[in-house]
Amino acid sequence: PFASETTLRASFFDFTGVAQQPDTIADQARYLEDGVLTLHDGKVVSLESWESAQSRINPATLIDLRGKLIVPGFIDTHIHYPQTEMIGAFGEQLLEWLNQYTFPVESQYHCPDHAAQMSAFFLHQLLANGTTTALVFGTVHPQSVEALFSAAEQLNMRLIAGKVMMDRNAPAYLTETPQASYLQTRALIERWHNRGRLSYALTPRFAPTSSPQLLEKVRQLRAEFPDTWLHTHLSENPQEIAWVKELFPEHDGYLDVYHQHQLTGKRSVFAHCLHLDDHEWQCLHDTDSSIAFCPTSNLFLGSGLFNIKRCWQQGVRMGIGTDVGAGTTFNILQTLGEAYKVGQLQHYKLSACEAFYHATLGGAHALDLDHAIGNFNPGKEADFVVLDPAVSALQQLRYANSKDIWEKLFVLMTLGDDRNIAQTWVNGQPVWQRESGVKAA
Ligand code: GUN
Ligand code: ZN
Repeated sequence: PFASETTLRASFFDFTGVAQQPDTIADQARYLEDGVLTLHDGKVVSLESWESAQSRINPATLIDLRGKLIVPGFIDTHIHYPQTEMIGAFGEQLLEWLNQYTFPVESQYHCPDHAAQMSAFFLHQLLANGTTTALVFGTVHPQSVEALFSAAEQLNMRLIAGKVMMDRNAPAYLTETPQASYLQTRALIERWHNRGRLSYALTPRFAPTSSPQLLEKVRQLRAEFPDTWLHTHLSENPQEIAWVKELFPEHDGYLDVYHQHQLTGKRSVFAHCLHLDDHEWQCLHDTDSSIAFCPTSNLFLGSGLFNIKRCWQQGVRMGIGTDVGAGTTFNILQTLGEAYKVGQLQHYKLSACEAFYHATLGGAHALDLDHAIGNFNPGKEADFVVLDPAVSALQQLRYANSKDIWEKLFVLMTLGDDRNIAQTWVNGQPVWQRESGVKAA
């Protein structure tokens, strides 16, 4: 055994491989009621049953977490860090909501001190909710992303982020020229992309705030840096979609605006996708693009219901996003509970098995990160959450009345919240504990 080896004893749940259809997810599920996870140098060495590992374990170095359930760190495939302070803004749907609440708040991020303060707050919220990887929107200001990457680097988090690119249909204080957008984005990529566990996402806000010239600059950056991500919004709200058709009459619908600029493909993540035409679903499939499903946002802004069944049928990769601040929680358990209700309204039964898959390995697959994170296979980066499965009187009663792991997980996504997150580990280190808050990095 190595000096830096860590072993944890608890219950464990994960998925050992990706699934192409919902009915094959359970075949990949692994539940060890009494298991041992061994870590070395920030990576998973092994996950075994206590019975088989017991004789080789040094009891002095064992962390005993019996009674807790450890799952891979949650993956949030779509979130806006500069909207944290306006979460839960009353009364509007997408386009009015952006003008009335979002743009004024994002203007604050020209200030590096504000960006640094909010970056720390934001990452704390992710960790307190068990989220260890996120795909994150900044603002148009490069300093917003500079602050976020700096803070994430201190924590050794695997994070993908980017500066928003936009040059029209927004207040002057948030727009830029295509050339300035290109140069600032390029400088950020050169500074941060593939630095430690950080990666860069080209982030045109959405088609309505992008001129064809700006989209041409995004295309150019993608050609120059083909291993960066592309992160934007698609087909969220009926007024938005009609507006895109007015702004881009020569294009065959909303997705075609991105597709014609070569912005579809692997590592392209489109948030929402609520009102897609048949040929748009087909295009997402053919280009191997991914979707971020953001149930709390879609319900809060009254945008529509994501079609989970169709997504599987079309063979399009999908992960869960909170979409804070249009989404109403950072918590992935609560987000899964709302995803279940979105399914119910369409007679789709989102099982706990499928839901936890989307929140972990499925999300990693949607971000093209399943080689690095998402489960406890040997060599994976050691990002995980220690769940306290029952923390309130109601949860304890319901937990005691649950017959198996599936029912326990389902109750967690129905009744659970941040109180259930006992610890969050990143890169083999405990970075958050419920009792003590964030540890110094
Ligand atoms: N579409 C363009 N910008 C945004 C945003 O900030 N939030 C959401 N939910 N949709 C958008
Ligand atoms: Zn969004």
